[in-house]
Amino acid sequence: MTSAAPDHEQQAFPPNAEFTATAHAGPELQAAADADRLGFWAAQAERLDWATPWTEVLDWSEAPFAKWFVGGELNVAYNCVDRHVLAGNGDRVAIHFEGEPGDTRSLTYNDLLAEVSRAANTFTELGLVAGDRVAIYMPMIPEAIVTMLACARLGLTHSVVFAGFSATALRSRIDDAEAKLLVTVDGQWRRGAAAPLKASADEATSGAASIEHVLVVQRTGIDVEWTEGRDLWWHDTVEQASPEHEAQPFDAEHPLFILYTSGTTGKPKGIIHTSGGYLTQASYTHHNVFDHKAGEDVYWCTADIGWVTGHTYIVYGPLSNGVTQVVYEGTPNSPTQHRHFEIIEKYGVSIYYTAPTLIRTFMKWGREIPDAHDLSSIRLLGSVGEPINPEAWRWYRDVIGAGKAPIVDTWWQTETGAIMISPLPGITATKPGSAMAPLPGISAKIVDDEARPLGPGGNGYLVLDQPWPAMLRGIWGDPQRYRETYWSRYEDQGWYFAGDGARYDEDGDLWVLGRVDDVMNVSGHRISTSEVESALVSHHTVAEAAVVGAADETTGQGIVAFVILRENVENTGDALIKDLREHVAVEISPIAKPRQITVVPELPKTRSGKIMRRLLRDVAEGRELGDTSTLVDPAVFDAIRGK
Ligand code: WT7
Repeated sequence: MTSAAPDHEQQAFPPNAEFTATAHAGPELQAAADADRLGFWAAQAERLDWATPWTEVLDWSEAPFAKWFVGGELNVAYNCVDRHVLAGNGDRVAIHFEGEPGDTRSLTYNDLLAEVSRAANTFTELGLVAGDRVAIYMPMIPEAIVTMLACARLGLTHSVVFAGFSATALRSRIDDAEAKLLVTVDGQWRRGAAAPLKASADEATSGAASIEHVLVVQRTGIDVEWTEGRDLWWHDTVEQASPEHEAQPFDAEHPLFILYTSGTTGKPKGIIHTSGGYLTQASYTHHNVFDHKAGEDVYWCTADIGWVTGHTYIVYGPLSNGVTQVVYEGTPNSPTQHRHFEIIEKYGVSIYYTAPTLIRTFMKWGREIPDAHDLSSIRLLGSVGEPINPEAWRWYRDVIGAGKAPIVDTWWQTETGAIMISPLPGITATKPGSAMAPLPGISAKIVDDEARPLGPGGNGYLVLDQPWPAMLRGIWGDPQRYRETYWSRYEDQGWYFAGDGARYDEDGDLWVLGRVDDVMNVSGHRISTSEVESALVSHHTVAEAAVVGAADETTGQGIVAFVILRENVENTGDALIKDLREHVAVEISPIAKPRQITVVPELPKTRSGKIMRRLLRDVAEGRELGDTSTLVDPAVFDAIRGK
């Protein structure tokens, strides 16, 4: 485990009085949660409209399978759309869409209700019924959000697959969830060019037994192959459908979505989230952590709906709170490195939520770029996805936040569903690089291997020792893996093991240090070492592969691979490496391409045959080798280093 920067931890930034004066959150939140945790969550659930009240806040009798708001019924889409219209806010802009080529569209809540209703009517006409699964493979366009909400409205469980993933990755997710409908686009705009997406969708669905229809939004106008009877254009169906649709309530525990994430073994896990508890925590955290004021703030979360951040902090949390938000389709440097700052200036963005990797990229580009814009609308900044280094934190606050915007460093995971550990703006004094403390209502601890809780100065593993409303309800089709992955490490205590190392500083503030398992964090994306290894070994030239995450200045970690070639394979040098990197892109995604691949004659192994990743990481990061005494043949490193 690496340590955080202790010299930074003493310097706390107290909340500014001006911000505190109007902040949603106050000390009474923590007091209420401390006095009665479940009562506190029941009060938070009142943020939503329920069709049927619940009879019990939490049923934990079948732990680790939780039921929150037992017996309660609600419609998630109604809570995100209809009720704002019914409250008289139908003319408020929900989404300011900014397309990469410069096209724009603003959707009010009235518009959103009509669109979601049209999509819901279309899905019903296609024969889909509550409980069916729908795969979504789309870029950041309003139709993607409309599709998610239409699914929620009908009780269809969506599975969004990041549009940067390959056909192979999409196929395995479609098969695992047995999705009946796939919603996609002809192509997506990337750096000024139309990149095909339907083509990958076709490859993924060819022979996919469960798929009945492929619904296609025309985004770029590029040519596509067409399967009559199966494929449908969005403009021929959804846009022709009736804009009237009445939402039915579903059980609080009705599955809202499945989202696949990398685990320590090769096969991605389908994380299941349900409705009432998830929406409660999404709404509560978006309201308090971002201090969001409906009708005043312009909010922008730069994530993609392919990740959990997009689910919870673009779709469900913000829309449940009646947000006005920016949705941007493209990359930050298209057409120039000014794009994000132009957007902030244009829409008067007041809350900006992004990832440390982008902040470090902005730093590299230089402050003259943001300085060329009026960013005075910004009043709160957020960070998510990986530990933020103190230098990036200070730069973010000084350059983007005019030296005064509070920064919320939010720790959470696909599995937690919503933010768990974060400062509360206006209340918490912040330290550059620290997520500070669990939110009111959330309980977390740092413990050692023997489950002993640690105090100030302690360094160990992060656990969640109480269930929380937005917690995952399991892994799709694999309850055993759910127990093993998260609950077996501290089985006797009944604690959730997050997979992260963390420490308390001398003041008792919490610093998340990063993964302690074989999961890498590349630009805030979770990628397992074994997934990349499997991809490499599936190439005809590779006999064996070992992959490690090595520290990287911009992306947090970079993927470094060591491969042994099969016998009689000729090492063609750069050409081979290029082939292998391309192969990983096809098998998983371009984001999983190794930064560096080294062909080696042998891999360092223990006597029991385990690859010593720790030592490979030393090599990849250019360090002195750690303890090599358990290796079968310490001399392998001479060969590896000789490369
Ligand atoms: C892992 C979860 C939560 C949405 C994005 C990632 C790391 C996340 C922080 C943070 C330090 C963080 C952890 C965690 N992580 N946020 N603020 N400080 N580390 O979701 O793909 O499920 O990854 O991201 O290692 O376990 P995810």
